[in-house]
Amino acid sequence: MSSSTTPISPQLVSPTDDELLQAQANLWRHSLYYLTSMALRCAVKLGIPTAIHRLGGNATLPALITALSLPPAKLPFLRRLMRLLVSSGVFTTERGGAAAEAEAVYGLAPLSLFLVDGAFTGSEVDDGHTNQSAFVLAATSAHYVEAALGLDDWFMKDNVPAAASPFEAVHGAPLLHETPVDAELNRLVSEALVSQNHMGIGLALRESRRVFEGLESLVDCGGGDGAAARAIVRAFPGIKCTVLDLPQVIGTAPVADGAVDYVAGDMFSYIPPAQAVLLKYVLSHWSDDDCVKILAQCKKAIPSREAGGKVIIKDVVVGTSSGLMLEAELLMDMAMMVMTSGRERDEQEWREIFTNAGFSDYKIMNKIGARCVIEVYP
Ligand SMILES: C[S@@+](CC[C@H](N)C(=O)[O-])C[C@H]1O[C@@H](n2cnc3c(N)ncnc32)[C@H](O)[C@@H]1O
Repeated sequence: MSSSTTPISPQLVSPTDDELLQAQANLWRHSLYYLTSMALRCAVKLGIPTAIHRLGGNATLPALITALSLPPAKLPFLRRLMRLLVSSGVFTTERGGAAAEAEAVYGLAPLSLFLVDGAFTGSEVDDGHTNQSAFVLAATSAHYVEAALGLDDWFMKDNVPAAASPFEAVHGAPLLHETPVDAELNRLVSEALVSQNHMGIGLALRESRRVFEGLESLVDCGGGDGAAARAIVRAFPGIKCTVLDLPQVIGTAPVADGAVDYVAGDMFSYIPPAQAVLLKYVLSHWSDDDCVKILAQCKKAIPSREAGGKVIIKDVVVGTSSGLMLEAELLMDMAMMVMTSGRERDEQEWREIFTNAGFSDYKIMNKIGARCVIEVYP
């Protein structure tokens, strides 16, 4: 390839041939990226991961067509869908034999294992609710996509309240409002939140032993159905654990088994006293002002630093990752911006919130996937 650096203007240097071709491919990729999301949605809707699992973990296209009861004429189209999903890491593929014309055999990659019901039954990653299909279906729903299509309009309007998300501007009510925009969407989003709560709890506890070791009591604030609290008590039987959540959530929580207490309440008004308060995937759903109010309640609930008082936060700290993890963090931040009034924060933004809530110090303890564990001290 020849290389050209002819200046177009003092500020603008024309791209090399290579750069031009890369730019064109990148433009295709960025403009059509949503089709990867939609292909994944299609795979979940058709039940492809579960079908492959039931076929013994690998399947040819004809076997999939039969298992999914699809018209045989759709086989060449299914091949194209699978090709994209293999290339984006959702499925794996290999040839079924040495012959060049041998059928491709599709298998489950780690990502698609999490889209199968019961894939991990009895294994050590079985945290009770590993299927993440609801997350895929909620994130690719018409309501989410319509909210994202309203982003430019939302930026230009100053007649919508500053805290109202594009989702609220487009659909007339916030996500998960008590008068739901759409009952099925509420069900999916609630299921997605529960499944995210369950996913990888065991791993997270193994990675953060020193955060929980020696604690006598803990409140899991916004602890949902108590999955994390029950896992914490299993791993650290000496901790007395309480789950605080809204009455409508606690009402559906498993009956207290003696290991974990459930308290229905509002974290903006009162958090039961404990040596530590856990806020796992909670603060990223709230504005800075609301985070300060929640943390101020946490501070009232815990003893001094000398007595072991601390708030344990698990959330994204933007800027601590690179590559795929960074992309995941930034996409999650955009999702928070489009669907909620929450956000992902960098370390400086976290520090300001901690200071404004009256805390004296904090420490980023470790990074687990796209999220960090932060200890905040009174
Ligand atoms: C994103 S979920 C996180 C759940 C869980 N901590 C996890 O790790 O997945 C946020 C939780 O905060 C709860 N919540 C929202 N507003 C609350 C409030 N005012 N008081 C207590 N809990 C609240 C929700 O019901 C929900 O269970």
